[in-house]
Amino acid sequence: MKRTKITDLLRRTDYGTEVLVKGWVRTKRGSKAVNFIALNDGSTIKNVQVVADVADFDEELLKQVTTGACLAVTGTLVESPGAGQSSEVHATAIEVLGTCDADYPMQKKGQSFEFMRKNAHMRLRTNTFGAVFRIRHHMAMAIHTFFHEHGFFYFHTPIITASDAEGAGEMFRVSVLDPDNAPRNDEGRVDYAQDFFGKQTSLTVSGQLEGELGATALGAIYTFGPTFRAENSNTPRHAAEFWMIEPEMAFYDITDNMDLAEEFIKYCVRWALDNCADDLDFLNRMIDKGLLERLHFVLEHDFVRLTYTEGIAILEQAVRDGHKFEFPVSWGTDLASEHERYLVEHHFKRPVILTDYPKEIKAFYMKQNDDGKTVRAMDVLFPGIGEIIGGSEREADHAKLLNRINELGIPMKDMWWYLDTRRFGTCPHSGFGLGFERLIMFVTGMQNIRDVIPFPRTTGTAEF
Ligand code: 4AD
Ligand code: MG
Repeated sequence: MKRTKITDLLRRTDYGTEVLVKGWVRTKRGSKAVNFIALNDGSTIKNVQVVADVADFDEELLKQVTTGACLAVTGTLVESPGAGQSSEVHATAIEVLGTCDADYPMQKKGQSFEFMRKNAHMRLRTNTFGAVFRIRHHMAMAIHTFFHEHGFFYFHTPIITASDAEGAGEMFRVSVLDPDNAPRNDEGRVDYAQDFFGKQTSLTVSGQLEGELGATALGAIYTFGPTFRAENSNTPRHAAEFWMIEPEMAFYDITDNMDLAEEFIKYCVRWALDNCADDLDFLNRMIDKGLLERLHFVLEHDFVRLTYTEGIAILEQAVRDGHKFEFPVSWGTDLASEHERYLVEHHFKRPVILTDYPKEIKAFYMKQNDDGKTVRAMDVLFPGIGEIIGGSEREADHAKLLNRINELGIPMKDMWWYLDTRRFGTCPHSGFGLGFERLIMFVTGMQNIRDVIPFPRTTGTAEF
């Protein structure tokens, strides 16, 4: 017989039919006469209730049906008398596909997230993480669908690269040289000319620079892939390996860019509400009581748009009014998460797009404003998250871009191809990067980035 997934089974009403379900035991309870087994196969947060008359089964077999064990159950689909469930399965045969050792870490309810992280290989089987990773899948589908429907091409940029797209020097080196016995050049430094690629390479921090090549040929592209940052920031919002979505569009100015970012993120939130109702309901009940309200709130309100300079003025006023920030704030400093969240959660009480940051705290490729001080950057700031999107209009002028690259001392030898876009038919263009995990955090209400990646990589952690 063909196996039925539990998500499909729970929608069926052809009672009396024989069915086969497979899954893992969540709980078993019951009496001397009858056992109730809650079975889950990951296809939905809902369990199917399997009813087994003790008299019909071998006692030894039923003893093996413990939390975590894997079963194949054949039985009859019947309408459930219990509240809150539509159908259940009255078992005629139970096969134990895999027994579960007594030290199964996920058997107790209410374990801490800390404990679950140490058992990330098994936490996937819990309600919370099942919900998070089903939603993560749906968000990936939403993203591809959004861009496909808007005429963007999915563009693959390299993961191993010789250029530092953000110019922040936070890259993981990629090398096949023996670290204990690396060849040296005349200056006594490691001779990367003898390395695999004939030069020093790293894991990419962003696909943007190659994305710009795509956009200035195909018109509008997006990347969606893993990025890597060796930044030593041990926060609930930073991972060393995370996924980023980077659309890049020819002929978009910063306003077009902001419009797209706002429409895009609202589309993703709407998609979650439309496609992940069961999982969101669970998370709203168990993890974050304000979750659904926040998701609806974002959909229903325009994002506030203001300049960095205006934002700083608000924050400085807050300090004068007695608000205590951990980090100082003044024109020219990068905003900390607490500052971003103050603007979003206290001051405006809605998502904020902050523009025109000082050029010193932003990357070399951003379009320079006429004031000589600021660049056409745009960061989207979200409640509970802070920065969820970072982007800008790009500097399209060859001389200005070259000048900035030189000012910052970025090695030219790795940038010639990027500068060529400004020599051969340059055009106004813009783009942004959405941190996929930050979106998942927002949509699930999870507070720590480590809990929205199946197997997170952060400073000091590369288990699993
Ligand atoms: O602001 P960032 O550094 O911008 C870029 O990389 C640009 N190249 C994007 C572009 O314009 N195409 O990163 C973009 C987003 C951030 O807003 C944040 O959501 C996320 O990526 N992000 C991280 N997420 C998790 N862990 C980290 N260490 C992150 N660093 C950035
Ligand atoms: Mg940023």
